[in-house]
Amino acid sequence: MATNAENPTGHAIIERSTTLLFVLTLLVVLIGGLVEIVPLFKLETTVQPVPGMRPYSPLEQIGRNVYTREGCYTCHSQQIRPFRDEVERYGHYSVAAESMYDHPFLWGSKRTGPDLARVGSKYSNAWHLAHMEDPRSVVPVSIMPAYAFLKDRDIDVEGFGAHMRALRAVGVPYSPDMIAQVAADIRAQASGEDAEGLLARYPKARLGDFDGQPGRITEMDALIAYLQVLGTLAEFPAGRVTGSGQP
Ligand code: HEC
Repeated sequence: MATNAENPTGHAIIERSTTLLFVLTLLVVLIGGLVEIVPLFKLETTVQPVPGMRPYSPLEQIGRNVYTREGCYTCHSQQIRPFRDEVERYGHYSVAAESMYDHPFLWGSKRTGPDLARVGSKYSNAWHLAHMEDPRSVVPVSIMPAYAFLKDRDIDVEGFGAHMRALRAVGVPYSPDMIAQVAADIRAQASGEDAEGLLARYPKARLGDFDGQPGRITEMDALIAYLQVLGTLAEFPAGRVTGSGQP
């Protein structure tokens, strides 16, 4: 556009006034920022629901707390990225809905060991027990530390309702019934007996005496129950890659 120094027009007006340029730049950046940020405040619009997702059963949630406390996330990620090599190794890439009940999320950023987002049902309970007690007994070259001491740590079966109420306060949909049944549900999952109520509240919960000590419910029971549910809840449409981690 033809302009001259004395009589600027169009964009030249903006370019020659620092204040005007600043104000208009700010306006453009603000609009761009709003468009990106505002939708995130309405989480429903960013997390696409996936059938099958449910809150963790009390025993699984206790196991998750052990996983967090022991820092398993410093060596293991729980997020399968949408790349072909990852999907072929671990199964369907992770989606947001799979972490929607996680407080805190445990996606991790380092893989000294493999991703665990879909490790559930990949191995038997007995394999996990042997691996946790002594990783080298099942994977001779493993550098993973042993966690045998978890078998000696009993869990607070009666008191866990308080933790569930706290999770409810931050948005996990635990019903009053789920909170009232906490002790019965923990016992049912760690013994496999009288589990109808548990399975109605928490479909697909893996049952068993995970730690091989029928009389006790320990952190080892909880941790294995948690590992066995990882990645097994979300139901993806048929024909898409799903998996338990097997290539
Ligand atoms: C120092 C790093 C390190 C830490 C900490 C660690 N792991 Fe591992 N983990 C590994 C490595 C390496 C492997 C692969 C070799 C093996 O299977 O033992 C592995 C393997 C695994 C596997 C088998 C995965 C598969 O698909 O074969 C599971 C399950 C597992 N770890 C769970 C845990 C849990 C639970 C914790 C915390 C209590 C933990 N790990 C802490 C390094 C670690």
